[in-house]
Amino acid sequence: MLLSGRGSNMVALVKAVHQGVLQELAEVAVVFSNNPEAAGLETAAALDCPTASLSSQGRNRAEFDAEVVEILQGYQPDYVVLAGYMRVLSPTFVRAFRGRIVNIHPADTHQHQGLHAYEWAFDNQLPETKITVHLVDEGLDTGPILAQHPVDLRGAETLAEVERRGLAVEHRVYAETLAELIKGELPTFTMEAVPTPLTA
Ligand code: GRF
Repeated sequence: MLLSGRGSNMVALVKAVHQGVLQELAEVAVVFSNNPEAAGLETAAALDCPTASLSSQGRNRAEFDAEVVEILQGYQPDYVVLAGYMRVLSPTFVRAFRGRIVNIHPADTHQHQGLHAYEWAFDNQLPETKITVHLVDEGLDTGPILAQHPVDLRGAETLAEVERRGLAVEHRVYAETLAELIKGELPTFTMEAVPTPLTA
């Protein structure tokens, strides 16, 4: 599992592994962070998860990702689960785990990609937003959608309330979707490699 920050989704997933929908289906090989100071790392350790980190600060993306791939391969993960990992993965990374990288995005990825999805929903006074769990390809939140779940935002008067409602759904549906994925209950997607441009 990969994170960069507080790790509330990581906590929900670890709980689901310990005594929820992921019990006897999954184990956490390692919680990795590109930020050695991430609060989520400490929380993961307190939950008895193996942890690892490598600072991405000032690093070239492709070189950094090549090192992360090597670290992760040492744990032989079946899936790479992004839980608030605040970096766009390089093609090197995506190639190494193609079709096995999962992300959760707090909006409908057809409507909003990238950061600040709850702010976007709040600023636009959306009556509803959608939590999306998707496979990761080379694009920014463009991979095949595994599941989408609505969040009722009617009457949410602050951004904090929008986030609170959204995260409650995230924490439930991420584990549920991963369980379905592991059990082979979701459609399979062929993820073709995106041709590398000839010019850099
Ligand atoms: C979540 O909203 C997740 O959907 C997004 O980043 C946030 C991470 O939060 N990708 P947390 O670290 O899991 O609390």
